Amino acid sequence: MSEVETERGGLGKGLYIKTYGCQMNVYDSTRMADLLAPLGYRLVSAAGDADIVILNTCHIREKAAEKVYSELGRLRARQAERGRSGERMVLAVGGCVAQAEGAEILRRAPYVDIVFGPQTYHRLPEMVARALARPANGDGRGVLDTEFPAEEKFDFLPEAASPPGVAAILTVQEGCDKFCSFCVVPYTRGAEYSRPAADILAEARRLVAAGAREITVLGQNVNAYHGAAPGGGNEWGLGRLIRALAEIAGLERIRYTTSHPGDVDDALIAAHRDVPQLMPFLHLPVQSGSDRVLAAMNRRHSVNQYRRLVECFSAARSDMAFSSDFIVGHPGEEDADFAATLALVEAVGYAQAFSFKYSPRPGTPAALAQQIPDEVKTARLAALQELLWAQQRRFNEASRDRVMPVLFDRPGRHPGQLIGRSPYLQSVHVAAALLPVRIVGAGQNSIAGVLTAMEASA
Ligand code: 5AD
Ligand code: SF4
Repeated sequence: MSEVETERGGLGKGLYIKTYGCQMNVYDSTRMADLLAPLGYRLVSAAGDADIVILNTCHIREKAAEKVYSELGRLRARQAERGRSGERMVLAVGGCVAQAEGAEILRRAPYVDIVFGPQTYHRLPEMVARALARPANGDGRGVLDTEFPAEEKFDFLPEAASPPGVAAILTVQEGCDKFCSFCVVPYTRGAEYSRPAADILAEARRLVAAGAREITVLGQNVNAYHGAAPGGGNEWGLGRLIRALAEIAGLERIRYTTSHPGDVDDALIAAHRDVPQLMPFLHLPVQSGSDRVLAAMNRRHSVNQYRRLVECFSAARSDMAFSSDFIVGHPGEEDADFAATLALVEAVGYAQAFSFKYSPRPGTPAALAQQIPDEVKTARLAALQELLWAQQRRFNEASRDRVMPVLFDRPGRHPGQLIGRSPYLQSVHVAAALLPVRIVGAGQNSIAGVLTAMEASA
């Protein structure tokens, strides 16, 4: 087994996690690292150096499974190379492709050691032990654990060991019961589940104590949140949870994603009115601007209901800006339906948005319907994106000369550059600057400071 130097100067084993897709997967990957840390595994930055490689996969859009198989093909070469020098490289596939493909992965890629789903990763230490107990013979009989277990994963996760960064994510809700016609999430992530509010608040306090200044509250259908209240009583909705998070000293920004229009309630809108830490930016996917298509998508809301929600949020906070997801070319979408989507975009005016061509996901209802030709989807996507990008440029132009709080969290692409996020999730890059700092603490190797500008505003 190869050994890499750990930060603490001890010896450990290497873990490499490649994360695909959404922020939920980013969160899950961090927790996988937390689970494997007590077994001596430390994150390394190259797959080639790792004793365990995990692909944490995403199944939401096109050719996801094929991309995973080609990545596995590449890793197999390195696994064999290490095998020849007597070292083991455990290959594990997790996430939504693993959930959807299951045993098929072990059949097509028999050298894979572990296949596990998004609801079973709390059992990773045991799966790794089982995989290591088997000879590395690539016989396709690796460990498979893609059941939806009766126990709750969150109850088995250790406290986070990895530093969160200044902009942290915190999963509060998982799974979805909506069954939109096009979406695999209810099948890969399973039924809707909300974590108890007390657990979430404890995790949030730990994140803030470890340096987080912003928390993005995460869930596949986050505003369906209905967690047990601390100390019993009625369940809390997302609006109530946000109010409680806002009481944590040092937590300066709160965001949440992703929401379903059908689950917006008055308490959530009121939180935007009353909680200054809640950012005035909302990602509220609508998918289509046509009631016919929304019905075919099983979205359970109308275009007018969505537009009313946008008005209510804007009335609660006048500086609100919106983002959305759109799908073009869902089965049944005609020219007039697509024109209605363009009209909705014109009417709302988005700060940014994501748009996709419909792509059939096996096992979902829309995949069985008559499909729209690809040329039609391509043309509609191009027209929609032209409009959305123009709106995004306009929104960014309108930011000129404004002074906005920006949370800097990473170096930029160019030397001497820093990047942060505006309240509206715009990436803001600035040249690193000399700033006046008051020294408030002293150690042997470094001294601690605060920006004097911050003291003035405190
Ligand atoms: N085809 C195209 N886009 C999809 N999305 C989800 N499933 C599909 C699909 N089968 C999009 C939706 C969703 C976002 C995360 O991905 O717009 O809101
Ligand atoms: Fe998928 Fe979102 Fe619809 Fe749930 S609400 S099925 S996660 S698109």
